[in-house]
Amino acid sequence: MVSGGKNAAVAILPAALLADSPSVIENVPDINDVHIIIEMLRYLGATVDFRDNVMTIDPRTADKFDPPYELASRMRASYYFAPVLLGVFKRCYVPLPGGCDIGPRPIDQTLKGMRTLGADVDTPGGVIVGSADELIGGDIFLEMPSVGATVNSMLTAVSANGTTCIHNAAKEPHIVDLANFLNSMGASVKGAGTDVIRVRGGRHLHGANYTVVPDQIETGTLMIAAAATGGDVVISGAIPTHMESLTAKLLEMGVHVSSEDDLIHVRSNRNFRAVNVKTQGYPGFPTDLQQPLSALLTVANGTSIVTETIFESRFRFLDELRKMGANSRVIETTAIITGVERLVGARVNATDLRAGASLVIAALMAEGVTEISGVEYIMRGYEHFDEKLRSLGAQIEHVKDGDLAAERAFLPNI
Ligand code: EPZ
Repeated sequence: MVSGGKNAAVAILPAALLADSPSVIENVPDINDVHIIIEMLRYLGATVDFRDNVMTIDPRTADKFDPPYELASRMRASYYFAPVLLGVFKRCYVPLPGGCDIGPRPIDQTLKGMRTLGADVDTPGGVIVGSADELIGGDIFLEMPSVGATVNSMLTAVSANGTTCIHNAAKEPHIVDLANFLNSMGASVKGAGTDVIRVRGGRHLHGANYTVVPDQIETGTLMIAAAATGGDVVISGAIPTHMESLTAKLLEMGVHVSSEDDLIHVRSNRNFRAVNVKTQGYPGFPTDLQQPLSALLTVANGTSIVTETIFESRFRFLDELRKMGANSRVIETTAIITGVERLVGARVNATDLRAGASLVIAALMAEGVTEISGVEYIMRGYEHFDEKLRSLGAQIEHVKDGDLAAERAFLPNI
C-alpha cells in the first residue's frame, strides 16, 4: 500500500497556517520530514495532533514568524514557511533550508516570485528575512520549472490582492495536490499541472478536510524493487497515470507492468534490457527515480546511458554501488552503466534519500548480506520501507541505536 506523498505533505502542512480555522489532513505519511514540520508548526504556536496518518492543525494559536535553524536546516521544504508566515504576519524570518546534497539548490527563483508580488525579501546571514505591508498580484516568470519556486509562488500569491500568473510552473503531482488543498480552503488556484498557474489572491481562507495524494516516488521505488527481485507484485493505493514515464522505461527493459484503478502489477524474470534515461520535470522521467532505476540498470544486459538534467551531483551513490560490483563511470551529468552478471553484498553508505533507496534495491538483488549505513536518510522519505519490503519477502532488518551496527540495515538477498 502506497503512503501519502512526502513532497505533497510538506507543502500542504505549512499552508494550513493560512486558514483562520483548523484543518484535518488525512493520508499524511509518518516520516521524519513530516515530524520536523510538526515541530516547526508547534514552535510557531499552532496546535497540532498527529495519529494514524491523520493530522489536525489549528492555526489560531500561531504567534511566531521565526522557526529555528535547528529545525529548518534539516530538510528542504522548511522554506515553504517563508511565504506562509509573510502572508499571515506580514513578515518572516526563516533560516535557509537543508535537504539532500545533490547540488547547490539555490532559491533565487523563490525570492524572485516573492519580490514580484511586493515582498521586501533577502537572505542576510543565511536567513530568509521578508516583510510586506501588502502583497499585490502580478506575473511571475520562472527561469526553470522549479518545484520549490512554484510552491512558494503559489503560497505567496494566495495572500496577494489581485491575480497572479506563475509562468513556466512545475507540473508535478504534488503541485496539483497543493492547489487542490488551497482551493479546498477557499482559494482560487487554476491551471496547476500546466505551465501557467493563475491565482486570484486575497481571499479569506478557512480550514479544510483534505487527503494527501499517494506518493509518486514511493510508488516508483516499489515498482523498481519488484522488478529487481524478479517478483510478481501488485502495488495498491497508487495513481498509475503518475507513473507513465517509469512504466514506459520498465516495459522497454522487458519488465511486465499493467494497471487497473489504483493497482499497479509488476512482474519480471530479472532479465533486463539496458536502456537510456534522461531526467526531466513532470511528466518526464523523475529525477527522484533516477537513482533507484540506475541500481536496476547495473545488472541489465548491455550498457545504459543515464543523463541527469535536473541536479548537478546526483550520481554519488554509484561509488557505493561499485563496492557491490557495479560497472559505471560518470562524465559530468551523465552516467554510463554497463550491466554485470551479479552484485555482491557489501558495506555501503547512503548519501541522500533516493541514494539510500537505490542501495536497498541493489542489496535486494545482491548475493549475500549488504549493510547500509545512513538509513536515517531513507527514514526521511519512505514510510515503513523495511516493513513493506519484508511483506514482499525481503529479508531486511533496520538495526536500531545501541547496536554495534547502529543505524545499519542488513539486507541478505532473497
Ligand atoms: C523538489 O526539490 C523535491 N523536494 C525534490 O525531491 C525533487 O528532486 C525536485 O523537486 C525535482 O522534482 C521537495 O519537493 C521537498 P527544484 P526542489 O526547485 O524544489 C534549480 C526527494 O528526493 N533551481 O525543482 O529543490 C535547482 O538547483 C527530493 O524527495 C535553481 O537554479 O527542486 C535544481 O538544479 C530530492 N533556482 C533544479 O532547479 C531555484 O530557485 C530543480 O530544482 C530553484 C531551483
